[in-house]
Amino acid sequence: MRSLISILDFSVAELDQLIATAKDIIANPDNYREKCRYKKLATLFFEPSTRTRLSFEAAMLELGGSVIGFSEASSSSASKGESMADTAKILSCYADIMAIRHPKEGAPYVASRNATIPVINAGDGGHQHPTQTLADLLTISREKGRLNDLTIGLCGDLKYGRTVHSLIEAMSRYEGIRFVLISPAELKLPSYVRFNVLEKHHIPYTEVTSLEDAMPELDVLYMTRIQQERFDDVEEYNRLKDSYVLDTEKMQLGKADMCVLHPLPRVNEISVAVDDDPRAAYFRQALNGKYMRMALILKLLEEAQNPAREAIDTEGLVYDRVCKNPKCICQVEQELPQIARITDPAENILRCIYCEQKV
Ligand code: NCD
Repeated sequence: MRSLISILDFSVAELDQLIATAKDIIANPDNYREKCRYKKLATLFFEPSTRTRLSFEAAMLELGGSVIGFSEASSSSASKGESMADTAKILSCYADIMAIRHPKEGAPYVASRNATIPVINAGDGGHQHPTQTLADLLTISREKGRLNDLTIGLCGDLKYGRTVHSLIEAMSRYEGIRFVLISPAELKLPSYVRFNVLEKHHIPYTEVTSLEDAMPELDVLYMTRIQQERFDDVEEYNRLKDSYVLDTEKMQLGKADMCVLHPLPRVNEISVAVDDDPRAAYFRQALNGKYMRMALILKLLEEAQNPAREAIDTEGLVYDRVCKNPKCICQVEQELPQIARITDPAENILRCIYCEQKV
């Protein structure tokens, strides 16, 4: 069954197709109003959300379908100790497609291995957030008119910011992309993105700490919130939380045709005065998220009509290597098999198949 767990599950051609569908939905909304009649989307949100959950729900309703689900873990049987695998099997009885947000890294992947309906990762811990990337891609395409030949600055919490990880994976596959990674030393990009994506595919990038210095060269500036809920150390969060604030003065340093994205919610990393700048695209980005989720639901439901259970890619798998990441789903669900994959044979680097951290 086709699911969306990582943005790499879709080829560039498929991403371009989703963007084309979303643009067609924008141009001809009436053609889509009945497309999902009698279909149900389940939204399983074990973590807070405004945009992602409600844009999924709005997307399904605008396609003529309906929605079931919950918006907090405490109102589901997970609070009684039900496993992700069982939850996925149960939801497969009630819905045609499901979107899951979970604080543990790899939880939607576990669901997809056990469900008989398509599973969409709506954010797993500090790991990945592929549907936010769909919103980001449509936004860049609409604002800049292209997805290639861009210098993209990513600013803020690059360590725990899951939207950043998925966006880098997606954009690295387009031509002429260069990244400027702007963060404090403590919040740099995790190694699985740096080595498995940037280094492996020879994507040019620089790591800097000054937003002001980076501004003049950027075509796209992607601001992020410091992810308070992922910090183990409150002191460290308090020290880093105001690392970057984009204000009207800094905007003057940017190109006239730069665009500013933010997955939202913002705390104080973009001052409200910036909202009036035509280059501020983050509210348009939130709307684009609904159109891309409509396109995604259509694609996955269409493919579900010809289900071919995807075999797990067994190349380089190593069993019984213990993952030590406390944020991984395998730490709370003890019956999950401990499986790692060799991602760098030369260095003998093994990574957990759920959270991608080194084991
Ligand atoms: C993001 C998330 O949940 O990762 N929000 C969203 O889905 N639009 C970003 C964030 O919470 O900072």
